[in-house]
Amino acid sequence: MKQLIIFATGNKGKIREIRDIITDPNTEVLSMREAGVSADPDENGTSFEENALIKARAVYDLIRQKKEAGTLCFDTTDTQITVMSDDSGLVIDALGGEPGIYSARYLGYDTDYNYKMEQIMKRMENVPDKERTARFVAAVGAIFPDGSEHVVLGAMEGVIARGIYGQNGFGYDPFFYLPEYGKTSAEITEEEKNAISHRGKALRAMLAQFEAWQRSGEAAQKTAAACGDYK
Ligand code: IMP
Repeated sequence: MKQLIIFATGNKGKIREIRDIITDPNTEVLSMREAGVSADPDENGTSFEENALIKARAVYDLIRQKKEAGTLCFDTTDTQITVMSDDSGLVIDALGGEPGIYSARYLGYDTDYNYKMEQIMKRMENVPDKERTARFVAAVGAIFPDGSEHVVLGAMEGVIARGIYGQNGFGYDPFFYLPEYGKTSAEITEEEKNAISHRGKALRAMLAQFEAWQRSGEAAQKTAAACGDYK
């Protein structure tokens, strides 16, 4: 049986990251767009985990409706479909966890990130170095082919810098300082970041759960076959 993972995102970077992590040739990854669906549900959960599952459920329902109507644009013969989604953000201790689940919306969706970072640094002007700890957090939610729901969290620890450095990455990377690298997460390479990132950790944990689920399914099938033989 082939495995198809539909990742509920339009972000090419996220799709590249998950494709890099999945090495099983039997598992294919499609973005929402490649799967011919588009969902933008209200992310009104109160945690990263809830928001990741809200997105995954919305895409899972669309895929199920299209499958029932026979309007899916890909072949599902001998294929099991899993939907995955992520929700992430920056959690700053000195700001009581802000911007947290509101990271993308903080000071407005379309506001330039240099401005967002400058405003945060202003709010933290008097926060001493030792208290500038923060983390990027990512939840990956998934609906497996049997309809079961799963969610895992990953985090990358760092410190809020007093300036903006580096061109790589996106969002809040240029002021997120990684003490073990002596650089911000916008100054390390994409490969380096994927190896330590919140999203990378959560994706790998979810894929491990998925592989365990597959193995338990195969084991159940073998047991059923054995019982059939016995009868
Ligand atoms: P979402 O998970 O796509 O909703 O994005 C959450 C927001 O958190 C992004 O728009 C960024 O502002 C921020 N964010 C999440 N992960 C990262 C990261 O790895 N680097 C920089 N900003 C991030």
